[in-house]
Amino acid sequence: MNHILHLTSPSDALNWATERHREGSSIALVPTMGALHQGHAALIARATASCDLTVVSIFVNPTQFDRANDFDTYPRTLNDDLNLCAVAGVDAVYMPSAEAMYPAGFDTSINPGALATRWEGEHRAGHFEGVATVVTKLFTAAQPDTAVFGEKDFQQLAVIRQVVRDLGLAVEIIGEPTVREDDGLAMSSRNVRLTPDARKSATAIHRGMTEAIRGVTPTTAPSDITKHVERRINEAGGTVDYVAVVDPNTLEPVTTLEQRSQLLVAAWFGDVRLIDNATISAHP
Ligand code: PAF
Repeated sequence: MNHILHLTSPSDALNWATERHREGSSIALVPTMGALHQGHAALIARATASCDLTVVSIFVNPTQFDRANDFDTYPRTLNDDLNLCAVAGVDAVYMPSAEAMYPAGFDTSINPGALATRWEGEHRAGHFEGVATVVTKLFTAAQPDTAVFGEKDFQQLAVIRQVVRDLGLAVEIIGEPTVREDDGLAMSSRNVRLTPDARKSATAIHRGMTEAIRGVTPTTAPSDITKHVERRINEAGGTVDYVAVVDPNTLEPVTTLEQRSQLLVAAWFGDVRLIDNATISAHP
């Protein structure tokens, strides 16, 4: 097991990173909100393979939650998180307090533009401003050469790539494929909040997506795909926020499957909101 350094303030993290860079080490950052699971372990494995040192940030960022209840009930499992990080070979964990991140008078936010307006942006007011701002602050403190994010949050990954491009941040962004439970449910920190019944029903998301995109051709109508997924979620007792087939770069809805496209899903099972996505390739 690794001995892990605990960094608790932006200046701690910046001093550590500056010193490690001076020594010639490269740094990979895995930004998280804790409640780590095997999906995070995969991000960490990718990070440790890409740089000399890996830092995991654990910060439940209040500014990206649109509902106070979601923030309050977000799982917090710090001891288990630190164990997972130690086993995974993480070098440092950056765990700033909310006061250290947003001291009195803090008044700046990054607005990521059009990519952030649809889908999650539409259903969770202010969410991506919160994400873009906190991620930029995490980058400023940890000075990573590389940062690894999960592809489960497909729109988040697109928004972060846009912010990095637009602000000219010298960070390579890596997207890591979604890790799934044996029954197909995408791993997510919020899964532990599902009741046993909702947990079973939530498999309808992945089942519906898999059925809907199996055997598609360039002439399949995107609306046939979205209707199928919606039906499966509704039959399972879930409530759809959106199901959409979009261009993977612009996230605008597509009207044909001539080009590679992305299926995006958000749905509620009980009081837990889950998101997932799949790549649609209509050409064999
Ligand atoms: O994906 C997450 O866990 C969060 O949105 C992130 C990127 C750590 C920012 O708070």
